[in-house]
Amino acid sequence: MLETDGMRIDGATLVSRLRELGRVGRDEQSRLSRLAVSDADKAGRDLFVQWARAAGLDVEVDRVGNIFAILHVANGEPSAPVMMGSHIDTVTDAGILDGCYGVLAGLSVIEAIQASGVRPAVPVAVAAFTNEEGVRYAPDMMGSLVYAGRMDVDEALAARGTDGTVLGEELTRIGYAGSGMARFPTPRAYVELHIEQGPILEREGIAIGAVENLQGISWQRVTVEGVANHAGTTPMSMRRDAGQAAARVVTFLSDRFKHADASTVATVGCMEFHPNAINVVPGRATFTVDLRDPDAARLTEEERVLRGYLDQLAAKEGVAITLERLARSEPVSFDPHIVQIIEASVHASGYSVRRMTSGAGHDAQMMALVCPTAMIFVPSRGGISHNPNEHTDDADLIKGATILLDVVTRLLDDP
Ligand code: GLV
Ligand code: MN
Ligand code: MN
Repeated sequence: MLETDGMRIDGATLVSRLRELGRVGRDEQSRLSRLAVSDADKAGRDLFVQWARAAGLDVEVDRVGNIFAILHVANGEPSAPVMMGSHIDTVTDAGILDGCYGVLAGLSVIEAIQASGVRPAVPVAVAAFTNEEGVRYAPDMMGSLVYAGRMDVDEALAARGTDGTVLGEELTRIGYAGSGMARFPTPRAYVELHIEQGPILEREGIAIGAVENLQGISWQRVTVEGVANHAGTTPMSMRRDAGQAAARVVTFLSDRFKHADASTVATVGCMEFHPNAINVVPGRATFTVDLRDPDAARLTEEERVLRGYLDQLAAKEGVAITLERLARSEPVSFDPHIVQIIEASVHASGYSVRRMTSGAGHDAQMMALVCPTAMIFVPSRGGISHNPNEHTDDADLIKGATILLDVVTRLLDDP
């Protein structure tokens, strides 16, 4: 166990819980897909709630299914907590750490505070936000977006999933449709511990990232309508091939940003052809575009450039192209004071630290809209994430949780 001011993270419990939660939501091929508000998500939520209740915490669920586990002050009225959190939903074929680490480390922090016998004067809470990943229902970071008051809860509950389900109905079905908003005031501070999911800390041999900002994210769905036709009889010059047009967009984006000084990143992660048959020219293609940039104006400009390219392409290829916005979240700068506290905590522990930007979206991005917020990163082996090979050494996971504990205790003492 590592120690901070007489308080200790129980590293063995943290690691064994991460593995246990990581076994929930596996298919026959052992792939982990705990998509938001699915049966697997319910089983993961149940496990977290069971651990939180066993620790003696109050558990609240709000209307969008966010779970809050709270250590209240003795005999006190509900007051503004120091909050930690993240998410336990996953992408398809996921690793076990993304999100789960922040939630379970938050629980370990509260348990460490309890075990020390110190009863803080301020509540401490850990949140597991609904649908951070956005794979099944868009937008991503939905639970924290609703919590932050930037999305209407009824709109979120009406979201239709990629499988045709409605989020609110699924929440009711799995027993996680709460009845109101969380019954405590806006947190004093929010700190999210997460694996980096990128290569920087490992490459530079640095233990901890003090995350000072997070880039903006734009998600759009593109539909290309051409004409389905016979693959053998239709001359190449007479085709209105939706598939070929879609492929051109993929290469356009990669050519545009694959140079060293581009700050924008672009991903086409989903693509479907219709009718999707070997001997039919695709009549329709639908695909998604994920664009990210730390600068909001540049992100907007790149959305505009893409629209312009699609218009030209439609005219050239004789197809119709429509765009639908799925999500847009603005870049955020985290609270400089909390970033400094993280750095001070790491220095006091004798580890190395650097400031960094988060490339991934996180619930902290939404929490930053309502209270002072920052994030702590630990290294990801090979910079791999959203992949079953996602890995961080146990010692690094425990180190990160120990820094989280120290930062939270400093925030509890912060006037
Ligand atoms: C969430 O993991 C995202 O960055 O897409
Ligand atoms: Mn995550
Ligand atoms: Mn993720």
